[in-house]
Parts: sequence; C-alpha cells; structure tokens
Amino acid sequence: MFTLLMTILSIWGYEKVNFDDSWLFMLADSAGMEKSDYNDKGWRRLDLPHDWAIEGDFSPSNPSGAGGGALPGGIGWYRKHFSITDKADGRYFVEFDGVYMNSTVYLNGHKVGGRPYGYSSFECELTPYLINGDNVLAVKVDNSDQPNSRWYSGCGIYRHVWFATTGQVRIDHWGVFVETSVKGDVMVETKVDYGTSVMKPSLTLNHFVYDAKGTLVASGKTQKTIARMKIRRPHLWSVESPYLYTVKTELADSKGKVLDVQYTTTGFRSFAFHSATGFSLNGKNMKLNGVCEHHDFGCLGAAVSEDAMHRKLKILREMGVNAIRSSHNPPAPELLNMCDSMGFIVMDESFDMWRRKKTQNDYARFFDEWHERDLSDLLLRDRNHPSILMWSIGNEVLEQWSSAEADTLTLEQANLILNAGHDASTLASEGELSVNSLLTRHLADIVRKFDKIRPITAGCNEPDPGNHLFKSGAIDIIGFNYHHQWVKDFPMNFPGKPFIFSESVSALQTRGYYMMPSDSIYKAPVEWWLPYTDPSFQCSAYDNMHASWSSTHEETWDVVKHNNFVGGQFIWTGFDYLGEPTPYAYPARSSYFGIVDLAGFPKDSYYMYQSEWTDKPVLHLFPHWNWLVGQTIDMWCYYNQADEVELYVNGKSQGVRKKADGHQYHVMWRVVFEPGEVKVVARKNGKEVRQKTIRTAGAPHHICMSADKTKLVSDGKSLSFVSVEILDKDGNLCPNADNQICFELDGNAEIAGVDNGCQTSLERFKDNKRKAFYGKCLVVVRAGKKAGDVTLKARGVDLQDATLSLSIH
Ligand code: GAL
Repeated sequence: MFTLLMTILSIWGYEKVNFDDSWLFMLADSAGMEKSDYNDKGWRRLDLPHDWAIEGDFSPSNPSGAGGGALPGGIGWYRKHFSITDKADGRYFVEFDGVYMNSTVYLNGHKVGGRPYGYSSFECELTPYLINGDNVLAVKVDNSDQPNSRWYSGCGIYRHVWFATTGQVRIDHWGVFVETSVKGDVMVETKVDYGTSVMKPSLTLNHFVYDAKGTLVASGKTQKTIARMKIRRPHLWSVESPYLYTVKTELADSKGKVLDVQYTTTGFRSFAFHSATGFSLNGKNMKLNGVCEHHDFGCLGAAVSEDAMHRKLKILREMGVNAIRSSHNPPAPELLNMCDSMGFIVMDESFDMWRRKKTQNDYARFFDEWHERDLSDLLLRDRNHPSILMWSIGNEVLEQWSSAEADTLTLEQANLILNAGHDASTLASEGELSVNSLLTRHLADIVRKFDKIRPITAGCNEPDPGNHLFKSGAIDIIGFNYHHQWVKDFPMNFPGKPFIFSESVSALQTRGYYMMPSDSIYKAPVEWWLPYTDPSFQCSAYDNMHASWSSTHEETWDVVKHNNFVGGQFIWTGFDYLGEPTPYAYPARSSYFGIVDLAGFPKDSYYMYQSEWTDKPVLHLFPHWNWLVGQTIDMWCYYNQADEVELYVNGKSQGVRKKADGHQYHVMWRVVFEPGEVKVVARKNGKEVRQKTIRTAGAPHHICMSADKTKLVSDGKSLSFVSVEILDKDGNLCPNADNQICFELDGNAEIAGVDNGCQTSLERFKDNKRKAFYGKCLVVVRAGKKAGDVTLKARGVDLQDATLSLSIH
C-alpha cells in the first residue's frame, strides 16, 4: 500500500511536473503530522485540487456563517509520499497555486514555507531536506478562524501543485517578464537565481518567439538581463481574435549547455482608457461588458477544474461578456490562461481589505506583514498575460474613509454596512494627504515597480472625490462600485479621469420565480439597516428586484450604454456563488446576484444582455405558462434584430409592442392566463423573422438529460455537466417540478457534484440524488483514469427514466 502511494521521480536537468496525484488527507490536527514516519495509514487517498468544505453538510453553526456558504472549516493535513531515485546536484521546488489558508509546508519534518493568504501562489525550496529514496511532503491547512473571506473560500489545497527541478543556477521563479508593442517590439527581461553559487558564472540567454502555428518569428541571444527583438506585422490579440505568441527563454552556460527553460505566453495589443471616449482596444472603441466572478464552481466548491472554468467562460461568452473581474482576489492561473486564449479582458484584483478588517479573521490580520509580498507575487506571476488590462489594488477597502467600522459585525451585517454609502465627515479634506492616501500610493508604487504600463484601479463604493484613495492621485482609472446616479457628475467631479463601473447592478434573482406586478421595483432590503424577510426565500427573476444600494440590470446598462465616457462595467455577478445570500439569512447560503444560477442555468436577464451585447438573434419570452386560470400575468420579452413583437394567447393577439427608444430593453404584456399556449412573433419590415411558443405543461412524465460533452479524457479530472429536465408527456418543461432525481453511474467515472441552483437547498453537493428546482437540476460526472464506456441513469418516482452514454478515452 505504502509503495502504491509513492510517486517516483527520476530527476534529470530542469523540468516542472504536475504534482496533484496521490496525496493523503486527514481532517484533523495532531502533533507530529509533519514527520516522515507519522503513521498515516488510515488517511484518505485523493488527487488534488481538493476542497474539503464542499464535501460537508450545511449548518448554521459552521464558522463561515451563511455569508461564507455555511459549510465546514477547520484544520486539515495533506501528506504526499514520493521517491527520488537519483538526486542530482540540482535544486528542487514545490509550487502551490493556492492553499486556503494559513498553510505550512514541511519536507521530511522540516518547515520549508507556507502562506497565510489563501489566494496567493507560492513556491518552497526543498533542496536542503530532499533525500535519495522516500520523502514526505506534509501541508498543514488552517481555515479554522472564520469568517475570513468574502465570500466562500473553500478549504484545502484547492489549486494545482507542481514539482520543479533545476540546476544550481536557474531562471528565477516568475523570472521572465515579456512586454510587447503593437509595432512588433518584444522586450524580455529575465531574472536569474544563482542559488548558493558564490561566483556568478557566465551565462547566456537565448530567446525564441513563436507564433500560434509554432513558427519561429524572432530570436535573440544575449548575456544581458534585457533582450529586445522585433517581429514583423504581429497578429493582434483581441476579444474576437485572441491571437497568442509564445516566448521560449533558455538559460545556457558558457559551453552552451541549457540549464533552464521557461515558456511565456504573450500577445500584441494596445489599449486606452480615455476620460471622454471610454475604453478602446487596438484603437477600436468598445465597452467593457464585464462581470465580477467569485472563484467557486458551485457544487464543486473552490477546487480548480479547468472544465468547470471553461464551461463558465463559455456560458458567459454566449451572453456577450468580454471582461472578467477576479473579485476580490488573485485568481487561479488557469483562469488567466483561458482568458488569454478565449479573449476575455481581465481586471486582476489583489485584496478585499487592507489594514482595516471587514470580518473578524480576514486578511487584515496579515496585511502589514504580507501585503508587499502578496502584491509583488501577484504582479510577478500575472504580468505576462495579454488578457490583463488593469490591476485592482483593492475592493471597497475601509481606508476610503477616515473612519468606518465593520469588524465587530457578522459577515452579513458587515456587507450591509459596507454598502451603506458615505458620510462626508470621513472624507479627505482639500489638500490633505492622509495616511490612507499614502497607503494607496504605497500599494500603487508596488504595482508600478513591476508594471509601468497597465493602469491601476480600485473598486470604490465612495464616489466622492474626497475618497482617500482618489485623493492619493495614484488611481489611474476611477472605478465606482454602484452609485450610477453619481455618474452624470463624474466629468465635473473628476476632470480628465477615465471611468468604469468596477462593480455594478447587484440585482437579485431566483431562476424561475416571478414577483408581480412586474413593473414594481422590489428593494431587498428596502434600506440597508432594515432586515428583509419573505417566506419564499426567493427573489424575482423579472428584472425588478435589487438591493438598496444597487439597481436593475437595465438601469445600469442604460447609463453605461448612453455615456461615451463610461468605459464599461463589471456586473455583480456573472454566476451565483456560494455565500452572501443577501437579502436572506440561513438557510439561504448562496447568492441571488448571478445572471446565471449556481448550477449554470441562465436566469432570464441573461437574454437581455445577449440581445444588447451580441449579434445573435434573440427572442426570449418569459415567464412560463402554468398559472391559475384567470390569474393576471405579466409576459416579458427580450428581443433584437426585429422592429416589433406581437403576443398571442391561444391564437388571440394581445397587441404589438416595440421598444420605444434607445432606453427600453424589454416589452411587456399584462394578460389573463388560460391554459394552452402563449406565442410571440417577431417581425422586421413587416415580415415574420422568428417566433417562440410556450405551452402549459401537464404533469411531470419523464426525465431528459443533456450533457455539455459526452467524450471525456481518462485523466481523473475531465468533467461532463449533465443538465436534467423534468418534462411532461409532450416534452414541455414542467416549470414547477421539484421531483427528486436519483443518479446511477456504471463505468469508470464518479459523480463529482449535484446542484439545482436553489439558494436555500440544504441537500449535499456530493451526492447521487438531487431535487429538481423549477424543473431542472444538474449532475456533474468526473471521468476516471481508465478508458471505457460510462452509463448514467436518472430515475424519479412516477417518472420515466433517462439514460445517457458517455465515453472515456
Ligand atoms: C459589494 C461588494 C461585493 C458584494 C456586493 C453585493 O459592495 O464589493 O463583494 O458584497 O456588494 O451587492
């Protein structure tokens, strides 16, 4: 058994290998767990990335509270046995993309590193304690003191781990910096790590630039730190065509022997934020149609999965999203790689708090000691990504004001007070450079030390120019969180400054639930200090409900669309996330803010954006057509590429509607329900261009499954997201169905998670059953490591089963 767990590494030269497989895990803490000879026989074997919190049960007594997802925390240990067969005269490193949080790393019982901030990546050198033969790497993860993150953090080694071998002299960790210009200039700055070498040997750096086809387009050889090359007429990187180049950097000794190699992805693009015209990419004016994304993947928790990430981005791209804000923390490196290759613009954000805490145990307790290291590492790790176009040095930090308290409150209360707006007496006075402004400058200086080109912003919910961050003069792009009413005065208040909504909207919606009359706005809570309760624990999926500090989707989009100086917005949020169930308390445990629910099913406002942000023809009619006879129902329609739409109930026209001016984004009919069908017809130049019919669904009759992919890779990580629908005998979605569906898997695969998008469901995410929510649920299948066929069966009482075939290659 023991040997089975060992990874054998035969070491030669330089290499970096994935180190995710075959770890042992124990959710406990006891003396000696770091020691090589600790008896770990009963520990659970697993592959990383891993999040132990998502495997647990919801409980109001879990330390994160509902604001953090109401899932468990605690202290956990991971151990990995590996064997070195031929330790050469080199150096050895383990690299963690992220461990949440307070990690301490040991090799053979010796402490080799760790990191308090759970969103930072870091490496530990293993060389002094690595031995030929068996080695044990042990990692203690302490996420017991909560709340400490807004929002769900996950627990454990939730991102990838890498093992690197180099010679004594190597290219430093994150030691290659590539900067390009649209004229084809390529600058490569390389930092060499000489290790313990006393004499600095003579070294050469060879650089090779390859285009996307792998053709060499430039090269250079130098003994200097900085190399400059030029390529002819580079393909530009853009949202529509995210063309990438690769720079290969070789470090060679005086005899030409290659000591280390690094590959860096780069791209060529120009961009500008302008005070009058907003944002432009490669000289083309455009809006940042962005969303804020928290890092979790719903039922999979925080554990990084490239497939889950890709699905998220694909769903957002279909909606027309072109920009992502990693709110409020450094993201996983794979997200940035995907944004590079899929053409998403990124706001890379460092911190949700500085010195003043927002919640009892958050990063503020580490800020003084660690901020310089964490921010520098973020820059060093991420600055080569062509997708990143701005750095955010903080979100709604309390240093915006001279005084503001939140740290004595619960996570839920803190969020409300944070959004409470401004108090003029706490703003910076004319001519004053307060400590808070100096701190802002200090952080901006750290950023500029590593990147002199990209602008700096911060998410600010104090829109007054007296905000201490603005007063510092160090913020290049003024970013408001909310406060769309203040935007008209922006050019007067901030002359010459570019503007974006660093965060916007915060509308509240439950997929499938509708509050009428739909032309009333429901504020929840009505004022931030008032509690909000409703026995339904749901929010309205018409775009008619939002928090007291926020707006409907249409309201903010109207401001963005019609003001040229507004560079764009980052909507809170693209997907629902675990934690922050505003406006409700437990048992609500995940957000209502998403345009897409936690399971990945779009809510209706998704189609409003699609109709405005894409060239796709859109005709989206909602809600469903299952009501009480005689009930008055508001039917909404989002459409584009048509002059008018007409609604019919059982063939009878309910009138023609047109979006009146550039400020209307939906049309509405108030109709009386009668069973049958409701149909909308869209016409252009008098001719029908498309139509959509919704029929009254009968009783739940059968299950229908559809997978986002049916061919998986035998890597133990590959995922298929299977959407499950409850249909009537004629194939209509039963919009109120909540049948429990049980899943059975046959073959070399496992159920990675189940969900249905319901914010109050206390069912487990790791299970083989799920209730449908408004007719739908989701099951996520993870491939094993052997090829073969897999059959997924779904069953429910009084429902015809469904079967889906998947194949693993
Ligand atoms: C913002 C905050 C986000 C989230 C949002 C909800 O103020 O930055 O983290 O709490 O409010 O509306």
